[in-house]
Amino acid sequence: MLVLGIESSCDECAASVLKDGKKILSNVVATQIEDHKLYMGVVPEIASRIHTEWIYGVVEEALETAGIKINEIDGIAVANRPGLSGSLMVGVSFAKGLSYGLDKPIIGIDHVQAHLYAPHIEHDIEYPYIGLLVSGGHTVIAIVKAFDQMEIIGSTIDDACGEAFDKVAKFYNFGYPGGKIIDDLSKKGNSKAFNFPRSSLHKGDHRYDVSYSGLKTSVINQLDQFWDGKSDKSPENIAASFQHVAIDMLIKKVERAIKDTSIKRVVAGGGVTANSYLRERLEKLHGIEVFLPSLKLCTDNGAMIAALGYEFLKRGYRDNLELTAISRVMAFRRGYP
Ligand code: KG4
Ligand code: ZN
Repeated sequence: MLVLGIESSCDECAASVLKDGKKILSNVVATQIEDHKLYMGVVPEIASRIHTEWIYGVVEEALETAGIKINEIDGIAVANRPGLSGSLMVGVSFAKGLSYGLDKPIIGIDHVQAHLYAPHIEHDIEYPYIGLLVSGGHTVIAIVKAFDQMEIIGSTIDDACGEAFDKVAKFYNFGYPGGKIIDDLSKKGNSKAFNFPRSSLHKGDHRYDVSYSGLKTSVINQLDQFWDGKSDKSPENIAASFQHVAIDMLIKKVERAIKDTSIKRVVAGGGVTANSYLRERLEKLHGIEVFLPSLKLCTDNGAMIAALGYEFLKRGYRDNLELTAISRVMAFRRGYP
């Protein structure tokens, strides 16, 4: 079964052709990073306009690279939630046009669920597992029992983890997007140079929640004293000390979830899963099976959309042409609709 996956929820315009949910025939990602750099963040209006210009070429390239004609695909999967509504609308409208014109089934896919599903493309993973989704827009800890059954047990109560990386980098003028830059700087820094605060949400409903707003503000507040010439105020030390706390907070919550549930399998996804320190810490979890996406499948891509779409399409689930773009996170649903 050949599934075309389309992703346009934020600033990557992406399309991929996947065979039987596992074999990546193509995975084209056109990033708008250069277009948003000036603003050190994604400008929604600019993002949606660029998607409109790029989407045709990106899908065409995905088909060409896969070596297939458009009418050979068996179904179309498109990210329709959550994300920037204008950006999502471009991918959804394009996918609906294809579905109607070619008379092929279409399925709307949750971008967050797809990030967590990405490691399934490269690994055979059994359920249940503790899912950790960390990206620029979301930070979620879940118990995943099936491809369509995910119980969210924790999330951020304010900023997303990747957002904190991006904001710290923005204020320190390290560059955009900040995640990879802070990761690289940290390799040469001392993570103990600063003792940044960590949130301690540990009671009741907040047991698995995290908070990044206080950590972000505390790191940014160091900026006043930053260039006083002392060596411990180097960009490398700021980055390493921030990264240490930001990642350690996630690991502590994952460890807590493992202990409480006795589930000894962890799967992670999302842009921040590219972080070398997070990967190192997860891989060191004692006695736990850990599955991480390869770097190209961490950040936004069409392959993860096609892979999760395949699971739904092969079971006969379909959307109709009333499919819409939904900007907010919805309750995850079992089965479909
Ligand atoms: O999953 P993604 O492409 O988009 C969203 O769905 O948000 O994630 C993008 C986020 C950005 O915040 C970016 O700074 C972060 O992932 N990121 C990283 C790294 N590479 C990307 N964060 C930390 N370390 C990295 N190496
Ligand atoms: Zn994403």
